[in-house]
Amino acid sequence: MKIPFAESFKIKMVEPIRSSTRQEREEWMKEARYNVFLLNADQVFIDLLTDSGTGAMSDRQWAAIMAGDESYAGARSFYLFKDAVTQITGFEYVLPTHQGRAAENVLFSYLVKAGDIIPGNSHFDTTKGHIESRRAEALDCTIDEAKDTQLEHPFKGNVDIVKLEQALKKYAYRIPFIIVTVTNNTAGGQPVSMENLRDVRRLADRYQKPVLIDGARFAENAYFIKVREKAYAERTIKEITREMFSLADGMTMSAKKDAIVNIGGFIATRSKDWYEGARTYCIQFEGYLTYGGMAGRDMAALAVGLDENTELDNLVTRIKQVEYLGKKLDEYGVPYQRPAGGHAIFVDAPKILTHVPKEEFPAQTLTIELFLEAGIRGCEIGYLLADRDPLTRENRFGGLDLLRLAIPRRVYTNNHMDVVAAALRNVYDRREQISRGVRITKEAELMRHFTVELERLE
Ligand code: F0G
Repeated sequence: MKIPFAESFKIKMVEPIRSSTRQEREEWMKEARYNVFLLNADQVFIDLLTDSGTGAMSDRQWAAIMAGDESYAGARSFYLFKDAVTQITGFEYVLPTHQGRAAENVLFSYLVKAGDIIPGNSHFDTTKGHIESRRAEALDCTIDEAKDTQLEHPFKGNVDIVKLEQALKKYAYRIPFIIVTVTNNTAGGQPVSMENLRDVRRLADRYQKPVLIDGARFAENAYFIKVREKAYAERTIKEITREMFSLADGMTMSAKKDAIVNIGGFIATRSKDWYEGARTYCIQFEGYLTYGGMAGRDMAALAVGLDENTELDNLVTRIKQVEYLGKKLDEYGVPYQRPAGGHAIFVDAPKILTHVPKEEFPAQTLTIELFLEAGIRGCEIGYLLADRDPLTRENRFGGLDLLRLAIPRRVYTNNHMDVVAAALRNVYDRREQISRGVRITKEAELMRHFTVELERLE
């Protein structure tokens, strides 16, 4: 008999979670104005809101926490952290920050000016925010295949090289750098191939532009390169990540994802110029150069997390779980961005709630239905999150409207995934009866999905 696959860890500490009744959930959802960000986490049974900062640290990481050095300047923990980053990425210069968007803020304060254009694959919301708030433009050059959720493509996160070259030709001097986000979160946690990274580098060299990697999920990306790109089948994850970063000039990192810590981030680069330019902003916004908004113990846990999560066992366990949920949904016929991504399943809401008009936010409606069904919290990555067009103030209905089920690392078992799949199936089975969605009663001008208040339409 073939020995089945199993997790590469055992569990030493547990945290109770509580299921609830439908009636309780109806009340809580109403009190939360049909916005899952406004729920109290204790009201949630299985929390798939995000995989960011929600992972379970290992015994080695907790041990490192106890040995953290809290000196203001020159802490031992900083050097452990810096050496781990350099070891894994090859980048010599490292600036700590308290999370990913802080790394963007520090680096972009130096690199981005009004009128600039920054092309790449899909920019994450905060990346886009830090570009747009500087009156510059984030230009999405992701391959068109990413827009069709039912199309199978091994590297749906790729940059479209033709679109990128057109941008480089057209905007030439307005482009300070190219950014590649690995994995491409916005397109569904979809990976970028090594071949594509190499093509981006070649083009960047031709137009003399630097390349920045948003590395939040770089290790998951390396896993996909190993299993989907022939030349890398026999290479270790650490060899692959070194090669990925050798094709860039620097990176911003949210360590809350692939370094499996609850808080932390950094900038790493081979450019002395970027380092020296960004350094002052680090001190101004984050903290002194050897802690940048993190405690010594955070940096110590980060160093261990980076090392652990660039080992194959850990990544196989992780990505097999996402795949497992995907396979269950295949069994039930629930459509999602194919193939399953690295950190999440992105359910294609308009393909399910075909009677809910886009003006009534199908993905948000599905998010609410899933919570009411079984206390599972997902997150809308769709029309609400897309905000309004800054000029016309119209809703932006141009992109995909997805319900993201982001799976925290090392937190839930496959039994939890069975519950998620069954609950989604129940909603799917009664999809024909769901004909109305939600209406906005209160919204902020930017990043409205965090605070939006909604009303359910009957
Ligand atoms: N880049 C990517 C690709 C991200 O997914 C995120 C965060 C960031 C940058 C910003 O990092 O949160 O540490 O400031 N993504 C989270 C998510 C919030 O739920 O996808 P941060």
